[in-house]
Amino acid sequence: MAAKLDVEQFIDDLRRANRESESQAAIDEVLARTVSEPARVAAGLGEPSVAGLHTLYHSSDLTVLNVVWAPLMILMPHNHKMWASIGIYTGREDNIIWERKGAVVQAVGAASLSEKEVFPLPEDAIHSVNNPIRRLTGAIHVYGGDFFEVPGRSEWDPETLTERELDLDAARERFREANERFERSR
Ligand SMILES: [Fe+2]
Repeated sequence: MAAKLDVEQFIDDLRRANRESESQAAIDEVLARTVSEPARVAAGLGEPSVAGLHTLYHSSDLTVLNVVWAPLMILMPHNHKMWASIGIYTGREDNIIWERKGAVVQAVGAASLSEKEVFPLPEDAIHSVNNPIRRLTGAIHVYGGDFFEVPGRSEWDPETLTERELDLDAARERFREANERFERSR
């Protein structure tokens, strides 16, 4: 196996998997095989250096992001309105799973994700994410649709747990702020 992930080939494999009838399961297989060699992924994508939602591929039916979490960064509960699968290639990503309860959400589950692990989320999932460690975490997030264009997505205020419309620009801003804290701490 090559020492460096061929990103173009990886995206082709994901697009092909996405055309299968059980598309998310097929994607999970590709993702699991890929992150099973985390050093190869880091070599192909570049060692994570800047926190953010880095787009690797984006179309109407598939989005692939290289998500780099700043140390100790937390992202509030939100939904995607499409299935999503997460594969970790460096660091850790803890997920809390939430469900609607009346006007708010309640935590109903959790997943502590380490390097080489893949975690699928169904279309109606609500999750929040935290990077519990003091270095950058790198994860490939694959979505079964256009992550940037789906209307009517929600996020839940981290203090009151009440729902509001998801603000993607504000989310990007949180990555930018987290990045500044990270830069200052170095
Ligand atoms: Fe998410």
